[in-house]
Amino acid sequence: PLPPPFQLPLAIPPVLAPVRTDAAADHYALTQRATTVEILPGVQTEIWGYDGRFPGPTIVSRRGRRTVVRHRNELPVPAVVHLHGGHTPPEHDGYPIDLILPVGMSAGPGRGGAVLAEGERAYDYPLDQRAATLWYHDHRMDFTAPSVWRGLAGFHLVTDEEEDALPLPRGERDLPLMITDRSFAADGTLHYPSLDPTLTGRPGVREPYAGGVLGDVILVNGVPWPLAEVRAARYRLRLLNASNARRYRLALDPPPPGGGGLVQIGTDAGLLAAPVRHDAVELAPAQRYDVIVDFGRYRPGTEVTLVDEFGADSTASVLRFRVGECLADDTAIPERLSEIVPLNPADAVVTRTLRFQSTRLHGMSGWTVNGRPFHPDEVHAEPRLGNVEIWRLISDFHHPVHLHLSPFQVLSRGTGGPGPYDHGWKDTVDVRPGEEVAIIVRFERYAGRYVFHCHNLEHEDMMMMANFVAVE
Ligand code: C2O
Ligand code: CU
Repeated sequence: PLPPPFQLPLAIPPVLAPVRTDAAADHYALTQRATTVEILPGVQTEIWGYDGRFPGPTIVSRRGRRTVVRHRNELPVPAVVHLHGGHTPPEHDGYPIDLILPVGMSAGPGRGGAVLAEGERAYDYPLDQRAATLWYHDHRMDFTAPSVWRGLAGFHLVTDEEEDALPLPRGERDLPLMITDRSFAADGTLHYPSLDPTLTGRPGVREPYAGGVLGDVILVNGVPWPLAEVRAARYRLRLLNASNARRYRLALDPPPPGGGGLVQIGTDAGLLAAPVRHDAVELAPAQRYDVIVDFGRYRPGTEVTLVDEFGADSTASVLRFRVGECLADDTAIPERLSEIVPLNPADAVVTRTLRFQSTRLHGMSGWTVNGRPFHPDEVHAEPRLGNVEIWRLISDFHHPVHLHLSPFQVLSRGTGGPGPYDHGWKDTVDVRPGEEVAIIVRFERYAGRYVFHCHNLEHEDMMMMANFVAVE
């Protein structure tokens, strides 16, 4: 039986304190381990967590402040950490075969140029990038989906002066919300259809789940359908869809009088140029939408539910807000948030076509890019640093396409311009069945091998990933 919704209080992941800070960097330490937590009331569930938490602790970095995160792997399997949205040199980007072996396991030779670490490794992030809601998660080749499902995901927020200068809600009224769907077996264990539940042998999921694994319990920051007590004032909600495969269309029920209750101020790679008013926002896996909700538009005492218009039954609602007393609210949503210079298609030196499509591989269903399953040695593109390129992404299904290294802008969707959710600098774009989306990107700063892939994590594990090598 599922727990009744809107009973448990919303939890906000704790902000991690640095273990050391010096002139050059802030240093953090996290231990990845299995632990038992209570997610469903009165039921114990084993998770894998950063410091034994799901979501992991939130790391907050200042733009340009080098941040070094040392990960210790006490899990029974190798781990890889990727900072999603980070502008990161390749050796610290969490390439899918650059493994941190479990403590006590010694490294044999790495395959295909892999960098193996025994027990621990430090990821060094320059974070010379705009304020944005980033997140970190496991990225091990073939096993990202079940590892994230077990709990390996956390927020990493970047702040900067530009954002600080705006009169946006902050502190207790700035809520990071990691939305995931999960299912639980009767004994409380997280239920996932792995072919090999030890996550060491055969990758992939049982055939009926090859399209993506969905759960029937919606968790926000690891709590099923929580209740958040809010004041009748403006709040900033940093919505992150950290689900393996579920897409959401989030709306407020009831909507505030006059509608337009979700005022989008930011997305994957930071602030938009100007706010965009929505009745609903669509989030594909890995995408972030930063929205302001003014609960001052509701009468105190109103219960406002964040619903998922794509969901049904238990998955039709996500979170409930109970609006309390008014607050002298000195926040505002400025009509000008940031400067975003559009990349010019006339500057593009290359146009590439990338097809995201299903296939049969060795008698099993799988997913490919241009007909090729992921292989660490196979390079699909060699963009030159500093150059602007157009990538045409063509899809047979829902594929949220994510590029490492550099954010992009959406140029077109189908035969039209960008869609209502395509504003700003993105790192993940929702490409829908039969659709072509053109993105424009300037590859910058770090030379080396990176991946791009579908962020439906089952598709990613079942080979819908490819390499590009950024060259000087
Ligand atoms: Cu969120 Cu390549 O990952
Ligand atoms: Cu996909």
